[in-house]
Amino acid sequence: MKKLNVIYLTLVLSLTSNLNFSCLAQSWNDEKIDSLINLMTIEEKIGQLTLFTSDWATTGPTIRENYLDDIRSGKAGNIFNAHTAAYNEKLQRVAVEESRLGIPLLFGYDVIHGYKTIFPIPLAEAASWDLNLIEKSARIAAEEATAGGLHWTFAPMVDIARDPRWGRVAEGSGEDVYLGSLIAGARVRGFQGKDLSSPNTLLACAKHFAAYGAAQGGRDYNTVDISRHALWETYLPPFKSALDAGVATFMTSFNELDGVPASANTYLLKEILRGDWNFQGFVVSDYTSINEMVAHGFAENERSAAMYAFNAGLDMDMQGAVYYNYLKELVDQGRVSVNDIDTSVKRILKLKNALGLFDDPYRYSDIEREKSVILSEENRTAAREIARQSVVLLENKNNTLPLSKTEKIALIGSLADSPIDMLGSWHGSGQSTDVISTLKAFTDQKMNFEYAKGSDMEGSDTSLFREAVDKAKNADKIVLVAGEHFNMSGEAASRAHIRIPDIQIQLLKRLLALHKPIILVLINGRPLCLEWESENMAAILEAWQPGTMAGLAITDVLYGEYNPSGKLPITFPVDEGQIPVYYNMKNTGRPMDPDQKYTSKYLDIPNAPLYPFGYGLSYTSFQFSQPSVDKTEINNNDSLHFSITVSNTGSVAGHEVVQLYMRDLVGSITRPVKELKSFKKIYLEPGNSQKVSFTITPDDLKFYNSDLVKIAEPGEFLFGIGNSSDVELNLKVTLK
Ligand code: BGC
Repeated sequence: MKKLNVIYLTLVLSLTSNLNFSCLAQSWNDEKIDSLINLMTIEEKIGQLTLFTSDWATTGPTIRENYLDDIRSGKAGNIFNAHTAAYNEKLQRVAVEESRLGIPLLFGYDVIHGYKTIFPIPLAEAASWDLNLIEKSARIAAEEATAGGLHWTFAPMVDIARDPRWGRVAEGSGEDVYLGSLIAGARVRGFQGKDLSSPNTLLACAKHFAAYGAAQGGRDYNTVDISRHALWETYLPPFKSALDAGVATFMTSFNELDGVPASANTYLLKEILRGDWNFQGFVVSDYTSINEMVAHGFAENERSAAMYAFNAGLDMDMQGAVYYNYLKELVDQGRVSVNDIDTSVKRILKLKNALGLFDDPYRYSDIEREKSVILSEENRTAAREIARQSVVLLENKNNTLPLSKTEKIALIGSLADSPIDMLGSWHGSGQSTDVISTLKAFTDQKMNFEYAKGSDMEGSDTSLFREAVDKAKNADKIVLVAGEHFNMSGEAASRAHIRIPDIQIQLLKRLLALHKPIILVLINGRPLCLEWESENMAAILEAWQPGTMAGLAITDVLYGEYNPSGKLPITFPVDEGQIPVYYNMKNTGRPMDPDQKYTSKYLDIPNAPLYPFGYGLSYTSFQFSQPSVDKTEINNNDSLHFSITVSNTGSVAGHEVVQLYMRDLVGSITRPVKELKSFKKIYLEPGNSQKVSFTITPDDLKFYNSDLVKIAEPGEFLFGIGNSSDVELNLKVTLK
C-alpha cells in the first residue's frame, strides 16, 4: 500500500510532529482511516459507495471500459463478479497504482454453495441438519473463493421460505426459524473464519433484508405484506443470528415491507439494524434495487430513489449507479449530508482494512494458492460427504434400497447424465466439466447397469422412450433420475405447478407398466408435489442438486455405502392448493375436524402435507423410548432437562436426527401448534442405544408479545421428542 502510505504520511506530517512510524506497517486504526477520508473528494467518497459488475466472456473475465476509467478516477471503489487471482490482481493494480489515492477495490461474488468445488444447494445442505458440515462447506467455499481473488461473498441467504413455488427456496435453509437461525450463524462463521485479516477468509453478507421469502403467491420480487409480529418472530431471527455470529455486511431485499421498499426502509435499516442491533458493518443494496423504487411507485425518479435509500441508511449501491449519478448533486442541494457519506465510507474502508487490503491489496491474488486449493482432493471429499448427508430417503417400500451390486440396474433419465443440472442455481464459477454425474459414477465404479436417456427434461418428444423401456425390461430394478433442470429454481424461477415435468412422468408411467421396482432419484431445487410418485414408486431418494460430487454421493446412498440420514428442512405438500403449508402453523379457532363441516379444511385435499418438515427415512430402524422431563412445574429461571433413549433396532449403522418440539398452549399472541426447539444428530451401530438429553432454558419459552418484547408467559407447555415434526407432544410442563 505504498501510495496510500505516502499520501497518509504527508498528511500526518502536516498535522503532527509526533509521528509514530511503526503504525504504517500495521493495519490502519480509526484515526488513520479518518485522515484518508479527509483527503477524499466527494466523487472519491461516492466511489467507495459504488459497486459495479465485471462481465464474463467465453475467453475470460472482462470489464466495461468506462468502469475501468471509473476505477482509475476513484469513482468505482468495489467490483463484483470479477474473479480469479490473476484477473483481480490486474484490476486491483488499476485501483492501487492508477487512481489518485490508491484505495484498494473490494471484490464481491455470489459464493452461495461453493466457489469451484460446488456443494449441494443450501436447501439441501440444511437437510443434513449438520451444523459442523455446513460450516465446513462455507469454510471451504471461502478458502477457494479467496484463492480466486475474492474478498466478499453475497451469502448466506437467510430468508425463511414457506412457499415452495418461490424458486429461491433453493438458496436458503427452508421454513424453520430455529434451524434457519442456527445455519445462518454456522455459514457466517464458515465464511468469515476466526480472523478477517487472514487471507483465506471472506466478508459474509446476510441477505435479503428482510422478509423477501414472504413474496405473495411465491412469485419472485412480489409484494410482501406481513405483520410486524411475523417479521420479528419468523423473518428476522436468522438475520439476528448472522449478526450475532459477526456478519460483516447486510444486503437489502427487492420487496417492500409495510409499503416501503426494503432499500429505503428506515424501520429495517435504522431502527432495527443500526438501532436495536447496533450493526457496525455496511449495507449493500440488491442489484439495482434502489432504481426499482421508481417502478414500485415509491420514488418519482432515480434521483429521489438515491436520496431515500441513502438517507434510510443504505451504504452501497449495487450496479444501479444512482449514488454515482446523483449523490453529489444531492449533497450540493443539502438533501444528503457529507457527514452521513463519511460515515458510510468509513464503514466500507474499515472492512477493507479488516481484510488486510491496506497492508497488502494483492494478498488475495496468490496464483500458487489458487492452484493448490481449488478443487483439491480434500475439498471434493468434503463435498461428497455433505452431499450424501443431504440426501433424504422419502420412500423405501419392501427395503428396495439399498441396491446390491449383483442386481442388474436400468439407469434411466437425462438427469443421470446432465452435469450442469447437478450444480443448481448460483453455482459460482463451478463448471459442469468438474461434475461427476450419476452415469459417470456408475460407469467408473463398474456397476452392473445399462443406461438410457429416456427423454429430455421438458418437451414432448417421446422417441427415446422405447430404448429406455427395452433396457428396463432386462433389469432387476430401475433407477430413474428425474426432476428439475437447474434453471427451474433459483432467482426468477417461480413455478405455479411444482411437479416433475410431464414428459418425465410419461416416461415413468411407461416404465411402471413393466411392474419392476422403480427407484426415483429426485434432482430439484424445491419441494415437489409427489403424491402419485409416493404411491407408485418402490423408493424415492431426494438428492436435490448435490453439486460437483453428485453422482458419487447418489451412488453411495443407492448402494448403501452411506445410510441416508437427511431430514426435510421444508414441508412437501400433497398439492399446490395447500400452499402455504408448513409445520408450525397456528391452530385457528376451528381446527380441522373431518367430521365437522365448519372447520378449517379443504373439501378436495387433506390438510396434512405429503412429507412433513423434519421427515426422512433410514436403511435401519430407530426406536424411541418414552421421553422424560425432570420437572413438571417451573419458575421463570428454571431450565428443563429432557431425555429419551434411541435404539438402532435394524441391521445397519446410521445417523438419526432427534428432534424436540414444543407448543405453548395459551399466549397473548397465539402460538403455533409446534415449534422446533432443539435437535441432536446421533450415530448408532446396529443393536446400540443412546440416551439423548436436551436442556430447554427459560429463553426457549419466549415469544414476541404485542409490544414486540420477548417474554415467556405463565401457563402450560407441551413437549415431544421424535424424528420428524409429526411427533406427538405428550409431556406437559407448567410455567408458574
Ligand atoms: C440477487 C442477489 C445477488 C445479486 C448479485 C441479485 O439479483 O437477488 O441475491 O447477490 O443479484 O449477483
